Amino acid sequence: EDGLHAPSYPWPHEGIFDSYDHSSIRRGHQVYQQVCAACHSMHHLHWRQLVGVAYTEDEVKAMAAETEVEDGPNDEGEMYLRPGRLADKLPSPYANEQAARYANGGAYPPDLSLIAGARHNGQNYIFALLTGYREPPAGVNVRTGLYYNPYFPGGSIAMPKMLVDGGAEYDDGTPASESQQAKDVTTFLTWSGYPFQDEMRLMGIKACLVLSAMIAFCSYSKRLRWAPLK
Ligand code: HEM
Repeated sequence: EDGLHAPSYPWPHEGIFDSYDHSSIRRGHQVYQQVCAACHSMHHLHWRQLVGVAYTEDEVKAMAAETEVEDGPNDEGEMYLRPGRLADKLPSPYANEQAARYANGGAYPPDLSLIAGARHNGQNYIFALLTGYREPPAGVNVRTGLYYNPYFPGGSIAMPKMLVDGGAEYDDGTPASESQQAKDVTTFLTWSGYPFQDEMRLMGIKACLVLSAMIAFCSYSKRLRWAPLK
């Protein structure tokens, strides 16, 4: 059974002349890191992709350096741990799917890098899901270990309600209400699924400008050259 269809929220990056709200991407990464990263990987995302999008290079280097990455073998043939670098992927919480399921009562927290594109009505669905936890209506039984959420197909989900007011902390001082966090983390996940959207829109606008200039020039010069023959 399908979940409740999520409403269309007014995302600021929706129109073809709009770019992402980059401070929202930055705050969304902070929600991901402080809340979601305990269970969800984002294995398509590399640290360097955050540079110039949400943070400065120095900020990202410092965040990466706080993580440990397995590397090797070294000259002695051993694997070793080193601080993360810009070229590394964001760390994953579990070694593999089995470990992830074991830690989550059999359910699998999916990788979030492409989730906004993988789900129907992606960004609206994610926002609605994150803020959609409530008491089950009378007569609806929810199995132990599951939580009622009308937006999740089937109506009960293995992920507990994650976002509460003040549950994350933003470095820009924005009050971290539940819906603020949901908006920001959804923007972050939408960006991670379509990281080149800003660039492609800009290219499209430039292409239109260049093409209109070329058409204008061609039609003018055609008229100019044929004028004596008419
Ligand atoms: C599923 C997002 C935090 C455990 C999901 C799904 C999304 C999501 C989009 C997929 C739903 C679907 O398949 O359509 C997030 C976000 C988080 C967060 C944005 C942070 C704000 C967590 C945490 C845990 C967790 C901290 C573990 C304690 C799970 C599990 C599932 C899941 C087990 C699978 C649910 C099922 O198949 O029933 N999450 N999550 N999530 N999440 Fe999270």
